[in-house]
Amino acid sequence: MQTVKLAEQLTVPAIGIGTWSWGDGLFWSYGQDYGQSEVEGAFKAAIDQGVTFFDTAEVYGLGKSEKLIGQFLSSNPTPKSLQIATKFFPLPWRWTKATVSDALTDSLNRLQVKQIELYQVHWPFDFFLGEQALMEVLAKEVHQGRILTVGVSNYSAQKMKKAYFLLKEHGVRLAVNQVRYSLLSRQIERNGILETAKQLGITILAYSPLEQGLLTGKYRLNRTNRPQGARKLDPRFSPQGLEKVEPLLEQLEHLSQKYQKTPAQIALNWLISQGGVMPIPGAKTAEQASQNAGALNWQLSAEDFTKLDKIA
Ligand SMILES: NC(=O)c1ccc[n+]([C@@H]2O[C@H](COP(=O)([O-])OP(=O)(O)OC[C@H]3O[C@@H](n4cnc5c(N)ncnc54)[C@H](OP(=O)(O)O)[C@@H]3O)[C@@H](O)[C@H]2O)c1
Repeated sequence: MQTVKLAEQLTVPAIGIGTWSWGDGLFWSYGQDYGQSEVEGAFKAAIDQGVTFFDTAEVYGLGKSEKLIGQFLSSNPTPKSLQIATKFFPLPWRWTKATVSDALTDSLNRLQVKQIELYQVHWPFDFFLGEQALMEVLAKEVHQGRILTVGVSNYSAQKMKKAYFLLKEHGVRLAVNQVRYSLLSRQIERNGILETAKQLGITILAYSPLEQGLLTGKYRLNRTNRPQGARKLDPRFSPQGLEKVEPLLEQLEHLSQKYQKTPAQIALNWLISQGGVMPIPGAKTAEQASQNAGALNWQLSAEDFTKLDKIA
């Protein structure tokens, strides 16, 4: 199994699974075209394939995603060790260090575990608490053993660097910056995030790596299949949006025949093969989770990587 090391101490598979859609009715319409049995299928299939890293957040489904993971963990005991990553949401009224620890306690309770492998700050807001106090309390939780590593999410290069040095003062390494990154979302290559993360040894956890389903090739101009939930209103999934990405989808289809892989596996492999980048594709079903795991343990040729890069 292809792995990566977070903060030089935590070995995880080179791909994870995102669980925002587990229990979220607002964006993903959980409970309509899919529900608990489908996402439990995704949970089991991911583990069967060796994808043991689960990304969630206290806000996903207002706690439902964490609760479902907790339930699945207790009803599907596995000899494999899992890695759970969740996120703290910095709200304006969380302005003391105790509110951070309390939020962690609530997440641990919903997840039904005593320790999580990665605790991330969901957005770069620190309001009245301040970044220094925030990093201080997270480092304290590492030393007390309730979290193994610390991450941030949606942090700029500058803020990520600041968090890195604040944690370093307490002997803790910043493990990840979780940001949007896919063949179609390339901002981090231009705004210094990717470069700074590489310099400091911070792993990029790439969210929406399939561009919310667009890069799987199942939503195409010439097909009637359209996404559910909030994506119905997203211009990227409109006929004009789909027309724009058609050349990339054609290239993904071409490569999928060449490598005998699916377009989703090609798009995920493009991220993995860069090194220092770990995608966390969301999966709602066993089929999607198994398929995404197939992005591991092989590599696009340098020539095909570049071709894909250029077309995107
Ligand atoms: N930190 C943050 O601010 C932030 C923001 C967004 C996401 N995230 C994290 O990143 C994870 C992934 O991002 P995402 O869910 O936004 O987008 P994504 O991974 O790009 O796309 C996920 C969606 O694509 C479709 N899909 C996935 N695998 C497929 C396959 N093999 N074949 C066909 N369709 C497939 C599914 O939707 P359909 O079947 O309905 O098409 C699935 O819900 C989230 O779950 C969450 O953990 C974090």
